[in-house]
Amino acid sequence: MLQSFPVEWEPHFATGIPSVDEQHQKLIAILNDLAATVEAGPTHKQLLDIVAQLADYAQYHFADEERIMEAMDYAEMDEHRLEHQTFINQIELFDLDAILATEGLAAEMLHYLKTWLCDHILGIDQRLGQAWARHHATGREAT
Ligand SMILES: [Fe+2]
Ligand SMILES: [Fe+2]
Repeated sequence: MLQSFPVEWEPHFATGIPSVDEQHQKLIAILNDLAATVEAGPTHKQLLDIVAQLADYAQYHFADEERIMEAMDYAEMDEHRLEHQTFINQIELFDLDAILATEGLAAEMLHYLKTWLCDHILGIDQRLGQAWARHHATGREAT
């Protein structure tokens, strides 16, 4: 397996929002599948399929988090939504032909995806989890 993969789920990744934590585990699993696929020397179609799977699932997950934020009238929603959009935009920018043809680019892509995902889960998603807990504890708006 590539260096720094597979990514293992750690207890401190948990946000406390059950659906979100389940989806984060699935995202990490897809990322690990992508790393294993890259290491095996994928065809263009294999790489395309797994990157598309990651993008699709990320979009599904982000929409779910954004619904949670809307329901709470969450103050940090715009900033959080922007981070999600940045990730989706970046996945669309990956040139899979170049990645297959150029040694090192696949590792760069995996590094970006892993870093973004872990930083996002450990940063802004944690704050959402804390606000969600406050919101549900008080029944009032949490911001
Ligand atoms: Fe998020
Ligand atoms: Fe998330």
